Amino acid sequence: MKKSPLQRIEELRELIREHDYNYYILAQPVISDYEFDQLLNELIKLEKENPQFISPDSPTQRVGSDLTKEFKSVQHKIPMLSLSNTYNENELIDFDRRVREGLPKNEKVEYVCELKIDGLSVSLRYINGKLDVAATRGDGTVGEDVTNNVKTIRTIPLVIKKQTKLKLNLDQFEVRGEVFMELEAFEKLNEERELNGEKTFANPRNSSAGTLKLQDPQLVAKRPLQIFVYYLFSEKDELTSQSENLVLLGDLGFRINKNYRVCNSIEDVLQFCNEWEEKRNELPYEIDGVVIKVNSLRQQKILGTIAKSPRWAVAYKFKAKQANTKLNNITWQVGRTGTLTPVAELEPVFLAGSTISRATLHNIDEIKRKDIREGDWVVIEKGGDVIPKVVSVDLSKRTKDSAEVKVPSNCPVCGSKLFRSEEEVAIYCENNLCPAQVKGRISHFASRGAMDIEGLGEALINLFVDLNFLKDYSDIYDLKEKRNELIQIERLGEKSIDNLLSAIETSKKKPFNKVLFALGIRYVGSGAANKLADHFLTLEQLSSASEEEIESVHEIGSSISKSVKRFFANTQNKKIIERLKKAGLNLAGEKKVNESNLFEGKSFVLTGTLSSMSRENAKEIIQRHGGAVISAVSKNTSYVVAGDSPGSKLDKAQKLGIQVLSEEQFLEMIKSE
Ligand code: IVH
Repeated sequence: MKKSPLQRIEELRELIREHDYNYYILAQPVISDYEFDQLLNELIKLEKENPQFISPDSPTQRVGSDLTKEFKSVQHKIPMLSLSNTYNENELIDFDRRVREGLPKNEKVEYVCELKIDGLSVSLRYINGKLDVAATRGDGTVGEDVTNNVKTIRTIPLVIKKQTKLKLNLDQFEVRGEVFMELEAFEKLNEERELNGEKTFANPRNSSAGTLKLQDPQLVAKRPLQIFVYYLFSEKDELTSQSENLVLLGDLGFRINKNYRVCNSIEDVLQFCNEWEEKRNELPYEIDGVVIKVNSLRQQKILGTIAKSPRWAVAYKFKAKQANTKLNNITWQVGRTGTLTPVAELEPVFLAGSTISRATLHNIDEIKRKDIREGDWVVIEKGGDVIPKVVSVDLSKRTKDSAEVKVPSNCPVCGSKLFRSEEEVAIYCENNLCPAQVKGRISHFASRGAMDIEGLGEALINLFVDLNFLKDYSDIYDLKEKRNELIQIERLGEKSIDNLLSAIETSKKKPFNKVLFALGIRYVGSGAANKLADHFLTLEQLSSASEEEIESVHEIGSSISKSVKRFFANTQNKKIIERLKKAGLNLAGEKKVNESNLFEGKSFVLTGTLSSMSRENAKEIIQRHGGAVISAVSKNTSYVVAGDSPGSKLDKAQKLGIQVLSEEQFLEMIKSE
């Protein structure tokens, strides 16, 4: 008899689930990919023809098409606890002692050691055997609903296989596990992001967190997240131990990490920890330690929980990862301001989630202090999010012909003579047109804290500079005229170019302080840029201000003022600014529209107490009329406004022959306007 569409749909779903399990969990596919696709396509077709039969647990529904607008809150039925950490053998022995003290005398204690996966914990709630809600840990009590994204993980059954050796009440249960990304997938993702000019993730954990919080499940599906589950809670079950729990999870079709071990003594636990600390690099994913759990659920109950962590479990954290490798040579990287930084070019070595082939050496003094030489075998370290560093040199492996590092005398990129000041450890390339500096300056200009041009990352900037589309950052705003040429570039394509061009247009709205920061004036970081933009209101004012006027701004010192003056004196920079102005960038603070140009080009010093207004008011009035307020009197000062009990500034003004205004005279000037 011919099957009804619903019968066939259900049969196909069952078959696909079975094949998913064989493929993803057992890694033993029994049919070819082609045959699998045929089954899936048949199901897609049937569901399309009979939409009334589509259900959320169908294998076709793993990747939803709706965007998640906001992640709803989910209250955890059972709090998601954290673990206390131990870092050495003694602390583990203490843990064992506390466990034994908390249990009836002479009770045998078994531990289960599991790998501590470096990812994010999630809870999966099942109702009637079907996945209902997946949530992040959040603060342990309330997490976020990430069901749509978690459903893309193929090893999470949307429907539970019902036959298991241990009986489980399927009405309602919860599974806990760790979502992570394999190292290979992480590296591939970062490569893609770099090419697209997006910020790369520091480690697989961050990339999993970022992925889990994406709004588009279709994007999530393209970034292969994985899960290892380690816990199942249900109200009515026959479980007596954590190890049974793991077996049951496996039987139910979940993916558990098989590298766990039941240990009968703390010595065995220590052995397991040491073994995996050694072997952690062999795994295709990151682990940051071992989780040790009392095996018996009865004993777990007796021990209970203090504060936010259970007394029956503990984490053993591994030490910062180190690796030995050969330092092939030292290269010198030229930054946007021309500073040279020595970089260790290493024999590629896999460490803490990625392949390391370079490490910073900071400066020449650091190299001397650690006596690092080319050809040395070195120990490198990477802890958490930090850039890898060279910790020490293995002197026993140093060859006889090794020589101290020589400071270069010419720029490795443009060849021009380098400059090294007496007092500074830094070495500079002084050629403004050095390609490395050009690329660095454009990269800084487009970066997130500056003009924030999405899509214009390092890789693309390098490409555009090499192809002569960009010579300095003002060229960015002419790129739209070159659209036809840009879309011809291999790998880029129309869509990405149009996105880039529209991001460039959007960046024109960035406020003055961001533009000022983006210019990349040496020593003018975002803080100094904000202060200067507040004080001077327009780029014009800043560029014509004297060193003293600039230094009169609170917290602005002489290195900044000198650097600002040098920047604006440069003819090349003048041209660039002219072009930025033409492009329509904000070269003035926007809220303070000048009432008049009465004081344009004039500088004021305020001294003494004013009776009708505060100093702040007076400053604002002057600025609104186009003038600038500075704190020190110099020969360039236009006026000194003197209130009651004026200080030494008045004396100085008189000495220099600067026009002094009383409060009334000052008010009169504004009135007559
Ligand atoms: S058990 C109370 N088992 O480590 C039980 N956690 O610091 C707590 N983790 O939040 C969890 N692998 O994100 C457990 N095999 C494992 C784990 C594991 C990784 C994470 C998890 C947890 C954190 C505890």
